[in-house]
Amino acid sequence: MITRRDSLKLALAAGTSLAWPLAGAGKAEAEAGDTAALITRAIPSSGQRLPVVGLGSSATFAQSAGQDDLAALRAVFEALVEHGGAVFDTAPSYGDAEAVAGRIVQELGIAKSLFWATKLNVAGRGGGQADVAAARRQLEASFERLGQPVIDLIQVHNLGDVATQLPLLRGLKDAGRIRYLGLTTTFERQYEALEQWMRREPLDFIGVDYAIDNRAVEERLLPLARDRGIAVLCYAPFGRTRLWSRVRGQALPAWAADVGARSWAQFFLKFVIANPTITAATPATSQARHMIDNMGAAFGELPDDAMRRRMVEYVRTLS
Ligand SMILES: NC(=O)c1ccc[n+]([C@@H]2O[C@H](COP(=O)([O-])OP(=O)(O)OC[C@H]3O[C@@H](n4cnc5c(N)ncnc54)[C@H](OP(=O)(O)O)[C@@H]3O)[C@@H](O)[C@H]2O)c1
Repeated sequence: MITRRDSLKLALAAGTSLAWPLAGAGKAEAEAGDTAALITRAIPSSGQRLPVVGLGSSATFAQSAGQDDLAALRAVFEALVEHGGAVFDTAPSYGDAEAVAGRIVQELGIAKSLFWATKLNVAGRGGGQADVAAARRQLEASFERLGQPVIDLIQVHNLGDVATQLPLLRGLKDAGRIRYLGLTTTFERQYEALEQWMRREPLDFIGVDYAIDNRAVEERLLPLARDRGIAVLCYAPFGRTRLWSRVRGQALPAWAADVGARSWAQFFLKFVIANPTITAATPATSQARHMIDNMGAAFGELPDDAMRRRMVEYVRTLS
């Protein structure tokens, strides 16, 4: 029997889309045939397709990972995979997140269903032997935590020591131990440096902050990523707590239904993934019901440019 998860994997591998009962839709809607296709995007350097919504692991996820009872995070991973998601973004610096996620994924036996993205962020700016050795130790620890011989993506975190660390990642890629490499930053003061690296080095990915109320990357970084064929992970699509404070107590506008947004999370996520240069958004959550809600944004309609402008203006008017 082919399960829904198997079918999604097959569809992703084949580069086709699938129709499923709308994620988060009620049973009656599902029975009435209310279906929508999972939206996927290709990684430019390979053509491999990824679902446009995934899971991040700092903030509340990392807090939950620090607790004894991991049932909630186990349920988050089950919900991610069950609803067609694959991309998981983590880092050695997110408390226990990477280690705990690795353990859960091994227990659930879902490593092959995921696109595992982690980072290299060990201190060191000089590129001396001690820095290289520390970076290598951190990389090997990431492989041990996931328990797999190959990791999909490793990025230099917040532009750490790019000159030293990018060659290490290139070595791992050449050896077939990672599939992709990249650089991340969520600091506007680092955008110019990131741009220089994007122009100089062949990168598979960047990871940057992008949200409906935080669109600075639209100016230069996203157009450059498109031109250079670099995949983009969208970080902090809710601004962590910023957008939640903004919409607290506010109802969704009725016209959100025109793009299939049934919650504020879907409204915010559909805004960012509607930008065709975004390969996947990785909102963090510690709750399965939020994971299901977030995956709902990866199905059905996306806003066009006029609708996206309307969405920006609407959020701007909220206190
Ligand atoms: N430099 C870097 O490399 C960098 C920097 C920043 C972020 N990132 C990556 O991007 C990920 C996302 O960014 P982020 O964690 O800073 O912030 P975020 O994803 O914008 O927001 C996470 C917050 O939103 C809440 N949330 C999630 N889904 C929700 C839903 N459907 N309804 C209501 N609340 C919801 C979460 O709480 P609940 O747990 O209650 O759901 C959490 O408080 C990170 O986890 C990390 O993987 C990378």
